[in-house]
Amino acid sequence: MTKKKFRIFRFDPNKDKEPYFKEYEVDVKEGMVVLDAVIYISQMIDTTLAVRWNCKAARCGSCSAEINGKPRLMCKTRVSDLGDTITIEPMKAFKIVKDLVTDVSINFEYAKKIPKFNPKPGLPQIWQMQQISVERAQEFKRCIECFLCQDSCHVFRNHKDNYYIGPRNVIKTAIYDFHPLDSEDRTEFLDRSGLNFCNVTKCCQEVCPEHIRITDNAIIPEKERLLNRKDPLYKLVSKLKGRDR
Ligand code: SF4
Ligand code: SF4
Ligand code: FES
Repeated sequence: MTKKKFRIFRFDPNKDKEPYFKEYEVDVKEGMVVLDAVIYISQMIDTTLAVRWNCKAARCGSCSAEINGKPRLMCKTRVSDLGDTITIEPMKAFKIVKDLVTDVSINFEYAKKIPKFNPKPGLPQIWQMQQISVERAQEFKRCIECFLCQDSCHVFRNHKDNYYIGPRNVIKTAIYDFHPLDSEDRTEFLDRSGLNFCNVTKCCQEVCPEHIRITDNAIIPEKERLLNRKDPLYKLVSKLKGRDR
């Protein structure tokens, strides 16, 4: 058994003037993930440490943090893959509730604003669509709402209070937009929600624990729709062809 040092971010907004780091030493066992060590610390060494977790199986999305500066799930990050000192911080894109726990409610507030699925008029009782359309949406529905993509996005981090809904909410919009039986036009919504400020760095895609191709399969196609929508020639051709979306 080896010992590793865990440097953990601490801050209680009701008590502390400034955030600080506290170090803990833990005996590391084979197969241990970062969340195992943090739970051990919070239960056996320092019960004042706040941490949020639920499934310990990379399914609930609640144990998101920045581990050695990278947005990751604590329950999916093996201690053996990291150095002798492991630094754990909360997601910096969100307000701190306490220590490693952040307030991610802004993501749900933005999600409420997305224009909802609106079926085309006159559809038959049984809806049919091609398998390829089903699979396209299924990829986005794998999202576990860990918000690591939001945390990694520099546009969201710097401007979330002003405009950008972030990659998570772009894929949520894309689920409706790419549905072949939907009739809603969400381009105006995406335009005022800051999609144009995304500069396709793919950082969001790189950190997604579900390997959703956020940039390639949702952001870039949505940006193309937005550009087309603004193109007067495209508008004219669409009108002539009777296409409303
Ligand atoms: S690709 Fe766009 S949404 Fe994703 S991290 Fe970069 S700027 Fe943010
Ligand atoms: S898209 Fe990926 S990184 Fe973003 S919230 Fe969903 S699962 Fe997490
Ligand atoms: S505890 Fe559920 S995703 Fe980590």
